[in-house]
Amino acid sequence: MKKRLLSGIKPTGDIHIGNYFGAMRQFLDLQNEYESFIFIADYHALNQIQNPKEMAQYSMDIAKAYLAIGLDPKKVALFKQSDVPAVTELAWIFNCLTPMAELERAHAYKDAKAKSNPINMGLFDYPVLMAADILLYNSDVVPVGQDQKQHLEMAQDTAKKFNRIFGETFKVPQELILKDVGAIRGLDGRKMSKSYKNTIGLFDDEKTINKKSMCITTDCRRADEPKDIEACSVFSLHRLFSTEADIKKLEKQYCEGSISYKESKELLAEKINKFLNPIREKKAELDKNPKLVEKILKDGAEKAAAEAEKIMKEVKKKIGVA
Ligand code: ADP
Ligand code: TRP
Repeated sequence: MKKRLLSGIKPTGDIHIGNYFGAMRQFLDLQNEYESFIFIADYHALNQIQNPKEMAQYSMDIAKAYLAIGLDPKKVALFKQSDVPAVTELAWIFNCLTPMAELERAHAYKDAKAKSNPINMGLFDYPVLMAADILLYNSDVVPVGQDQKQHLEMAQDTAKKFNRIFGETFKVPQELILKDVGAIRGLDGRKMSKSYKNTIGLFDDEKTINKKSMCITTDCRRADEPKDIEACSVFSLHRLFSTEADIKKLEKQYCEGSISYKESKELLAEKINKFLNPIREKKAELDKNPKLVEKILKDGAEKAAAEAEKIMKEVKKKIGVA
């Protein structure tokens, strides 16, 4: 029997190559090895996206992104979180086991508090809903980016706590974090993130990529000056799209000062466009066939709901309500 994999992405904005290299690529690499459940975390996004048109659009875009990068709906159950409402039921049950003090230690909440941002209960409770996502499908592994590590630990703690109180019920899931990836840098050198508006979009067209590449921040060394590969965001992006031989060559050019930032950026744009071309083509096909995407999500939700029902039956018995 194959082990089970689960992960999701929030529909909070345009999907970018940080999402791809940090998280989605693993979904793709592992779809043959695991029985996969990949979803669109729309209830999580509701914290930020409180506009129905945007919610629908971003959710559809994530579905298309999953398919355009090559996830195969025959192998992977693709679905919307909200299509399996048992997840909020399980989140309530977990709420009753989760000390507030634990949620007060969560990064997202602490960051929002430090910045004096408004904090709704959904943001505070985010890790509990995420634990419900993961445990509802008895997942073995959860591939995510480094920034989700704390959430995974909270899900593991929740599984252990439930098992301790009510008897062995949930598997304790393992996180899968690509060690060599870390945070992909954005156009301004900070972590690429929708919230910093510094992203390279997975669906950006050629012109946009050419323009954005030229805007990546660098220092002001001249063409013939040696350049620092570690400090250079352009170089760090090259790493994602280059063969080892290409990157060695570029490193040499940087060290000896035989390439200008302009040339490096042009080369990068070329590589990104080459990488994005098949994804754009697949996306264009899906744009013409929204019914197909909807059908795939519906089938995925049916499969996910069937799994969820099995576990919820057991959980309800264990807690004494069934
Ligand atoms: P954003 O910061 O743009 O809002 P999300 O928080 O929605 O992105 O992240 C979705 C997934 O993509 C998560 O698993 C996250 O770890 C990963 N991810 C997002 N940005 C990056 C990045 N710059 N580098 C690596 N992984 C990232
Ligand atoms: N919190 C994740 C993010 O910001 C999205 C997410 C929600 C998720 N539920 C999940 C990821 C369950 C993995 C498993 O990217």
